[in-house]
Amino acid sequence: MATEGNELVFSSKEKIADFSINQWMGISSQSVAERGRFCVALSGGKTPVDFYKRLAFRGNDLPWEKTHIFLADERFVPTSHKDSNYGMIKEHLLDHVSVPGKNVHAISTEGVTLEQSAREYEEDIRGFFRTVEGQFPAFDLIMLGIGEDGHTASLFPGTAFQAETKRLAVPITNDKIPQQRISLTFPVLTNARRVIFLVTGEGKAPVLKEIVENRDSTLPAALVRQRCKETYLVTDKSAASLLSGPTVEREASFRL
Ligand code: 6PG
Repeated sequence: MATEGNELVFSSKEKIADFSINQWMGISSQSVAERGRFCVALSGGKTPVDFYKRLAFRGNDLPWEKTHIFLADERFVPTSHKDSNYGMIKEHLLDHVSVPGKNVHAISTEGVTLEQSAREYEEDIRGFFRTVEGQFPAFDLIMLGIGEDGHTASLFPGTAFQAETKRLAVPITNDKIPQQRISLTFPVLTNARRVIFLVTGEGKAPVLKEIVENRDSTLPAALVRQRCKETYLVTDKSAASLLSGPTVEREASFRL
């Protein structure tokens, strides 16, 4: 049952980060207790930078040695490139916490073709989760952003993102986006135990209205949210400014 109702509007980026860190702490400890590990896929872009920084600062009491970090998507650029998601996550999070290097599942972007990179990443995920063809991994948590066009990870509107029913990771080449990318597929995103969308800024207000109130399922972010088992849409007042329905502001002390 989708939990589309979990729209949370916070008055500051500190409260957004505190809520998200509380979620991370709760999910990671439950995952480690139940399965001996915590598997999370992270997004790039600008929105999550503040969260990654604060998580790194607060993160000493987290089970990093049992945490496995994957990417929801990656731009097909060198890790030193300013647009590299891995580069950004390494700078603001990985370099500051004790997650073992073997637990970080980056995506190859040098010395391989785009298709080879997607295949390698898929084999890494399949081998880690021990899934066979037709089965999809269940990440304990996937952190996603939403583009102003309604994309999430690197699944873009107007593409056949739903048609992919077998692969776990795919190459993305789209003349509307600046770089080639590799992305987790729609069935992988929607099979996660929990998804947190982090969406801030007034530029996202129109697309949030389309997603939350008009439930425009041509938008990948809307459809992922409708199909996931449990999602939280965590926003600030600017991004939520066009929403007319009830929204809930929760203080960071609130533990779910
Ligand atoms: C990426 C992300 C992408 C991002 C949205 C929002 O690689 O860019 O995976 O899906 O989350 O584009 O980006 P901002 O947070 O920069 O607005």
